[in-house]
Amino acid sequence: MEQLTLKSSIKVAQLDELTPEERELVELAIEGTNRSYAPYSNFHVGAAIRLQNGVTFIGCNQENAAFPAGICAERAAIFAAGAQYPDQPVVMLAITARGRDGELIEEPASPCGTCRQVIIETETRFKHPVRILLYGRKHTYIMDGIKELMPLSFVEF
Ligand code: THU
Repeated sequence: MEQLTLKSSIKVAQLDELTPEERELVELAIEGTNRSYAPYSNFHVGAAIRLQNGVTFIGCNQENAAFPAGICAERAAIFAAGAQYPDQPVVMLAITARGRDGELIEEPASPCGTCRQVIIETETRFKHPVRILLYGRKHTYIMDGIKELMPLSFVEF
């Protein structure tokens, strides 16, 4: 029997190591945490995406008393962009969150499985990888595409 070992390549950076474009997107994601509607989990997630044409979108989680009716920050941003600019590749995505104490998270938060699947679809649809920045106060994880977070992912053949 063979063993298949899958590897991920993720950079661990400080804020001052980010490019101006990356830094701006992280700041927009932080702004997203202030717009989040999360009275049930009190976990306020912010996301920001940049399209190939330079336009940026902020997303944030939107919860609901009938809980599956809500949506994550990442999908809120990606779907809003898809509605406004259906032909524009998403080139970058930044994510962060604010906890119950109101502070930005120390360790980066990672997208949920459903959002990962949507990011895969976005990359496949536009034939363009999405650079992903996961911001925490301690450090930012940077990766060149969702494959680093979701190897052997499902894509339609
Ligand atoms: N959440 C996101 O916005 N993005 C993720 O990738 C993970 C989870 C939201 C959903 C819910 O409103 C709250 O965080 C707690 O799970």
